[in-house]
Amino acid sequence: IQIKEELYSGKAKTIYTTNDPEVLVSHFRDSLTAFDGKKKSEAEKKGYYNAQISRKLFEMLEDEGINTHYLGMFDDERMLVEKVEIIPIEVIPRNIAAGSITRKYPFNEGDEFKVPVLVMDYKSDEYGDPMLNEDIALALGIATSEDIAKIRELALNINSILTTYMEKQGLLLVDFKLEFGWANGEIVLADEISCDTCRFWDAGTRESLDKDVFRFNKGDVSGTYEKLARRLVPEIFQN
Ligand code: C5P
Repeated sequence: IQIKEELYSGKAKTIYTTNDPEVLVSHFRDSLTAFDGKKKSEAEKKGYYNAQISRKLFEMLEDEGINTHYLGMFDDERMLVEKVEIIPIEVIPRNIAAGSITRKYPFNEGDEFKVPVLVMDYKSDEYGDPMLNEDIALALGIATSEDIAKIRELALNINSILTTYMEKQGLLLVDFKLEFGWANGEIVLADEISCDTCRFWDAGTRESLDKDVFRFNKGDVSGTYEKLARRLVPEIFQN
């Protein structure tokens, strides 16, 4: 497959078209942003670690019967993905309270939810990703009630598959963000699942092993992403 031209460059990934109209290339870059782009930096090999972590988790979800946009790797930090029409909803399963939910509601960081809490935000830089409810999603015309029910079911299923896997690696999956898209009339998981889009805590120490290290200057970003990659994708460190 051959890369043709840049289609879109986001905060951490650049998407390219290819000679196949149904296939795009997603390049995981070393750039990092937080707080709506107000904080910016680069971290060595961060794109590589995120690409490999995403690859591994997409492959696992595919094995468990979840449809994703993942098709394979172009190279170590570039993923081949199916062209999908992104649904502008950020779907956030939360297992433990952290981040925005502790600022907006009376939860303390570290509170464990008895049942996963699913939050849906409207994906819009212009409006600052406000929280959605079903009525607003319907009024915006971005999803039907059936679509929302399907997205909830998929997100909770993905959460349970990933949580089980993380537990085996001595990790707590605190929360994470998913995006879905339409491909051939079906809702598929798109975007990425990485240290940029998840909160992972060490189950013993509760140390952050994700982008919170960058957001809140908790330490070395590349070193942290490498630490997580060593647990989730040990195969890339062999030889
Ligand atoms: O900021 P907040 O606490 O709502 O984030 C919840 C989870 O969703 C975190 O794991 C964060 O990394 C992820 N997220 C994201 N992209 C956003 C907003 C949140 O990946 N635009």
